Amino acid sequence: MGSIQAISFVIFSCICLATANANGNSFQRKKSSFERKKQEMDCNMYQGKWVYDDSYPLYNSTDCPFIRKEFDCLKYGRPDHLYLKYRWQPTNCHLPRFNGEYFLKRFKGKKIMFIGDSLSLNIWQSLICMLHAAVPNSRIIKQGLNNNTISAVTFQDYKISVMLFHSLYLVDVDEERIGRVLKLNSMRNGDHWKNNDVLVFNTWLWWYRRGLKQQWDYVNDEGRITKDIDRMTAFRTALTTWAKWVDSDVDTNRTKVIFQGISPSHYNGTEWNEPGVRNCFKEMEPFNGSAAYPVGLPEAAYVVKDVISNIKKPVHLLDITALSQLRKDAHPSSYNAFKGMDCTHWCVAGLTDTWNQLLYAALLS
Ligand SMILES: *[C@@H]1O[C@H](CO)[C@@H](O)[C@H](O)[C@H]1NC(C)=O
Ligand SMILES: *[C@@H]1O[C@H](CO)[C@@H](O)[C@H](O)[C@H]1NC(C)=O
Ligand SMILES: *[C@@H]1O[C@H](CO)[C@@H](O)[C@H](O)[C@H]1NC(C)=O
Ligand SMILES: *[C@@H]1O[C@H](CO)[C@@H](O)[C@H](O)[C@H]1NC(C)=O
Ligand SMILES: *[C@@H]1O[C@H](CO)[C@@H](O)[C@H](O)[C@H]1NC(C)=O
Repeated sequence: MGSIQAISFVIFSCICLATANANGNSFQRKKSSFERKKQEMDCNMYQGKWVYDDSYPLYNSTDCPFIRKEFDCLKYGRPDHLYLKYRWQPTNCHLPRFNGEYFLKRFKGKKIMFIGDSLSLNIWQSLICMLHAAVPNSRIIKQGLNNNTISAVTFQDYKISVMLFHSLYLVDVDEERIGRVLKLNSMRNGDHWKNNDVLVFNTWLWWYRRGLKQQWDYVNDEGRITKDIDRMTAFRTALTTWAKWVDSDVDTNRTKVIFQGISPSHYNGTEWNEPGVRNCFKEMEPFNGSAAYPVGLPEAAYVVKDVISNIKKPVHLLDITALSQLRKDAHPSSYNAFKGMDCTHWCVAGLTDTWNQLLYAALLS
């Protein structure tokens, strides 16, 4: 037991060490913890490149009982498997390899909640597959997995609940006499969120949707009710409402707050130097180049950074935008139950496992 703990200590305390110290005696540990501080400051986990790694994927998706038909690319016949074989390699440090059993022990008794749209569903599915792969025989309770607002998978032996709260805009949409009203300054669901131990927020996908896909009829900003509003302004206002709520309502001594950055889609080949390409169907390799994606970051990613930089309490940005832009190969395309072209979400197993490795590193540091 002692030696297992020692090994765990070395492996999991070296989140940003350039070289893991495999035989850490206490002197070396002290030194490495000192060096770690320095290296953490030098290390941005989100800067790096994709490298081929034959030990990937982290789990066999066939054995994961939770994957929905939108994301189960292998089940729906995806013939190329190279997209499963890439590991994210930060420039100045190593990502810790995900250890599901350690995660379950470390976060025993905790409640982890993902809050947002279908990209929250996407990362949530990946995390429960990663944990399930570590303890395939442990007792699991599933609640509300279909279309309820809250879904939860509880690993009973560890009393860990990994939950999903479905919310397209984070702020409220209320049914009123005039129709559905998007309320940019109101976030009543916060009361359901704040008592969890880890919160991972995301919203973006639905802000520009119009017509039948738009989930509101009017927008209310500071009491002014209008038929429409500049969408980027609306997004910024809603995020600011969320940011104020974090500062006023969340006890960050107990609850760790994460914002899951903008997830890029791949419908416009001009963005990756293949003009004329209109989807991700034939993409089987990442964009060749590290973090220098031709079009740069989407504007929304700058809005997210700006709003988060003004929050007083500690909030971690899970900054997955740039590294995901390179992964034009990692979407389901038409390998889902609907045969519909999807270059917005991501195959499970796949890219969202890396998002969870980064989340893991952020939670342990
Ligand atoms: C994944 O699991 C399935 C069923 O258990 C098995 O048939 C398949 O060979 C496994 N795939 C890999 C790559 O191990
Ligand atoms: C929600 O789930 C119920 C039963 O689980 C199903 O009958 C219904 O069609 C679902 N609604 C949507 C919008 O998916
Ligand atoms: C959080 O911890 C800090 C430092 O220990 C303390 O000063 C602060 O009052 C705590 N905040 C709450 C809300 O408990
Ligand atoms: C594709 O992206 C390029 C570069 O950002 C842009 O100029 C062009 O308008 C886009 N095309 C479409 C159809 O959105
Ligand atoms: C990127 O391009 C270089 C040079 O053309 C090639 O050697 C390398 O294999 C490519 N990498 C990927 C991931 O395709």
